Amino acid sequence: MDLSSHRFITYFDAPEAQKISDLAIIEQFTDQSIIFEEGEDPSFLYLVLEGQVEFQKQTALNQYQTVANAKTNDFFGEFGVLDGQPRSARAVAAGKVKLAKLSRSHLMEILSNTQGKVILNLFSYIINHLRITTNQYVHQLVHKEKMELVGEMVNTILHDFRSPFTGIQLSSTMLKEMHPDEETEEWCDLIAMQIQRMLGMAEEVLEFAKGSTVLYRRPVNVAKMLGHFEKLNRVYFQSTQVEFSVNVADNCVICVDENKLIRVFQNLVGNSVEAFEKPGGKISITATKSPGWITITIADNGPGIPEAIREHLFDAFVTYGKRSGTGLGTAIAKSIIDAHGGKIEFKSVSEQGTTFYIQLPETQLEEMQQEVAEEVKLN
Ligand SMILES: Nc1ncnc2c1ncn2[C@@H]1O[C@H](COP(=O)(O)OP(=O)(O)OP(=O)(O)O)[C@@H](O)[C@H]1O
Ligand SMILES: [Mg+2]
Repeated sequence: MDLSSHRFITYFDAPEAQKISDLAIIEQFTDQSIIFEEGEDPSFLYLVLEGQVEFQKQTALNQYQTVANAKTNDFFGEFGVLDGQPRSARAVAAGKVKLAKLSRSHLMEILSNTQGKVILNLFSYIINHLRITTNQYVHQLVHKEKMELVGEMVNTILHDFRSPFTGIQLSSTMLKEMHPDEETEEWCDLIAMQIQRMLGMAEEVLEFAKGSTVLYRRPVNVAKMLGHFEKLNRVYFQSTQVEFSVNVADNCVICVDENKLIRVFQNLVGNSVEAFEKPGGKISITATKSPGWITITIADNGPGIPEAIREHLFDAFVTYGKRSGTGLGTAIAKSIIDAHGGKIEFKSVSEQGTTFYIQLPETQLEEMQQEVAEEVKLN
């Protein structure tokens, strides 16, 4: 935007506005460049002409949390300029940013000669902005505390469940040895697999709460992965009377962390099953190939996602109409797809059903002949 039409300039009468325009220095910043550091002496007020700036506070060594942001037509840095105290957060360009900066001494000189109404306008902007920032900060703080609580809870549960799980696993191995027929073997393997799955689920919630995960990627045949998923859920689908079908294009192979992707299907399919209000529930999964991408859809003929939560569905702790919903299922699904460099979206029509669309990049198989462990930041 043009400097002369910036909100800050319009607070002033024409001669002062002109003076500000003459004194302001225009500066461009590239993505992630630092505009000022936390603790720095405040020398300038900044007007955002283009792009977005994030304010980040240091939480640990080399770790920063975004506490607020400023967009085109906003201004920032006024606190330090007015009270002379060091910067309380660092300002970082989020993308390409164009700023106009006004030095503290020039601003003070203009303000001390200006009319009361200008000061009132400024005050009103600053208070309003402070209110928004405080709300954002409280929201983030509550979110962080909830996450920490989830992490602690899951840790305790994992700790207490490990020994009974080991007991079940040992018993199923003994049973298999005592009755070495094919059918017993298959059921015992299923018991062992489900125990591993439960531990895996708890680990994933823990990783989500921590904010980072390790992906063990290897080439995975999508049809085989979905066959495995179906096997894990056969009893669940039968007991809930859900018709489940899979349709996968030939030779669909992707480099993914299979256990984590199965978690995504489990969370989304579990939601569909939980949403069915009457018998006749159908869930179908398809996988198709397009150049560079594999698209997986998960469709149900349920009641649709409630309108009230559609916009924030993928946010953590968004749940609706469930007695024991934590609101983490779709948030975890999204974090796993994001970690793979993919995309997840959905379409939902009331009383007709919901379809989730997952796009995953078709990583070059030659690059991934061996399993690779990769640390990825979540959410
Ligand atoms: N396929 C679907 N059909 C109808 N509603 C859905 C569907 N998927 C999700 N929802 C709605 O979205 C909400 C959020 O889902 P999400 O999986 O994130 O959390 P949750 O199922 O409530 O809790 P959790 O998965 O942590 O046990 C659900 O409570 C439900 O109301
Ligand atoms: Mg869920």
